[in-house]
Amino acid sequence: MKNSVIDVTTSTPVSASTTSPALKLQAEGLCKFYDDFAALHPTELKVHAGELLTLLGPSGSGKTTLLQLICGLVQPSDGILTIDGRDHTGTPASQRDVGVVFQNYALFPHLTVHENVGFPLEMRRVARGDAERRIAEALAMVGLADFGKRFPSELSGGQQQRVALARCLVYHPSLILMDESLSALDRKLREAMQIEIRRIHRETGSTIIFVTHDQEEALALSDRICLMNSGRIEQIGSPQEIYERPVSRFAADFIGVSNIFEGRVESDRLVTTEGALPLPAATQAVKGFLVVRPEHIRFEEPEGATLVGRLIETIYAGPQSRLIVRLDSGFTITALRSSSLPPLQHGEPVGLSWNPEDARFLDR
Ligand SMILES: Nc1ncnc2c1ncn2[C@@H]1O[C@H](COP(=O)(O)OP(=O)(O)OP(=O)(O)O)[C@@H](O)[C@H]1O
Ligand SMILES: [Mg+2]
Repeated sequence: MKNSVIDVTTSTPVSASTTSPALKLQAEGLCKFYDDFAALHPTELKVHAGELLTLLGPSGSGKTTLLQLICGLVQPSDGILTIDGRDHTGTPASQRDVGVVFQNYALFPHLTVHENVGFPLEMRRVARGDAERRIAEALAMVGLADFGKRFPSELSGGQQQRVALARCLVYHPSLILMDESLSALDRKLREAMQIEIRRIHRETGSTIIFVTHDQEEALALSDRICLMNSGRIEQIGSPQEIYERPVSRFAADFIGVSNIFEGRVESDRLVTTEGALPLPAATQAVKGFLVVRPEHIRFEEPEGATLVGRLIETIYAGPQSRLIVRLDSGFTITALRSSSLPPLQHGEPVGLSWNPEDARFLDR
């Protein structure tokens, strides 16, 4: 059976001389090659103590590889991994103060919830009274105080997920790694669990590295997002920074919905096949991309508008509807519009404009 918890013994105390105490983890040139293939290119990463960092990126971008390097399940091809100020590059997984909740949370089916959660403590020979108290605490923390006698088969998927989380929390790891831990849950449960994880994070002060390929989840959960692409860190920053100031076309495309125009700069305009678009002030480049978020686009009369197209789709989504407009060039634009406004006729010409300073220019 796959065990989704790495049992650990506490590592050597922090050595303040080597790393700032605010730094939980540092990767320097950390990389993983399988033959010639770089699952993770040489990577620099600093994770602050008490931070909730998400690794976000498409399938195959190296998220799990980075997590496996951090918990010690995979050995790096090169580089240094420092945890709590101590070089852990060669430390076996069992000797890292790291708890892992894998996507496949594989509880022991023949053990009750109580026994599952107590398992890591048994492995560590924690005294019975102390263990009982910690099991009760961990189960209460995930809202399953009354479920100790049940077997995993008597729980919903979300409850099993929470047992896996309790089984990790029970031995108080100061660094928790979660790999796609919520992806199997339905949307409502996932959102409830996100709130739960934020609460646990606040209450325990632990450092959490959370892997997801769901950008909404990353935006909702994280102190910072580490956006990964093809085995490299593409951008790292707060959710707001990544959403509002993407550094690359990939970042703009991956996070949120973006309208991206490509062209060449002529004075204060970007000349594109869709039209000459106003640029933010002080744009200095020859070629590049203009990124316009749907919420920044205004619907206007066609005369005088920046772009003119025809409305082809209105998707109701609560207070704001998502409108799809097709330009003569065939390019489609996504814009948001208040659902309480009188609806626009499909097929009719509509004008689209935005404040140039709300758009983001990316140098090619
Ligand atoms: N043991 C291995 N041998 C060879 N290649 C591997 C191995 N493990 C991972 N890879 C490759 O490394 C790349 C990164 O894999 P990784 O599992 O880190 O991706 P991921 O970002 O977690 O993707 P997903 O979202 O699908 O889980 C992939 O192309 C994968 O095929
Ligand atoms: Mg993965």
